[in-house]
Amino acid sequence: MAVRPVLKMGEPLLRQVAVPVQRFDAQLAALVADMSDTMRALNGAGLAAPQIGVSLRVVIFEVTSNPRYPDVSPVPYTVLVNPELTPLGDEQEDGWEGCLSVPGLRGLVPRLRRLRYRGYDVEGVPFERTVEGFHARVVQHEVDHLDGILYPQRMLDLRNFGFEDALRGQVRPMPD
Ligand code: NI
Repeated sequence: MAVRPVLKMGEPLLRQVAVPVQRFDAQLAALVADMSDTMRALNGAGLAAPQIGVSLRVVIFEVTSNPRYPDVSPVPYTVLVNPELTPLGDEQEDGWEGCLSVPGLRGLVPRLRRLRYRGYDVEGVPFERTVEGFHARVVQHEVDHLDGILYPQRMLDLRNFGFEDALRGQVRPMPD
């Protein structure tokens, strides 16, 4: 297990479409352990395998209750392999996002408010959840990484994009 360097926007691997996991083996478990160490060391809300240089369809996320983010409900630690998202309704909402691959910046991004996701845990056990709000936002952000998309590409108005320290006081704080 190790904290791995996080690739930054501009790296070609972050623009690739990642490939599905075929084997739920020790190598996958080791990848997920490194992802978890890296996410927690950097205080991220989520991480996708391509961000540490592995082009596989694996994401993790976790939001613990944090006084810095009073508007954000906790999200349990989740490993999601080969995810599939199904929109529930077409309602969208705007929210501020950050990304460990776009350090220091925040942007206002529209996302679906409710969705169902399904996939597999690290042992290959299938599961699904129906979620909304910040949980739904985190999943959409992380799964976008698997399709080579970073959140600035989802923004509709680049005036709502800037450095976290400069935006302080203007935006609702959100974890990366
Ligand atoms: Ni990200």
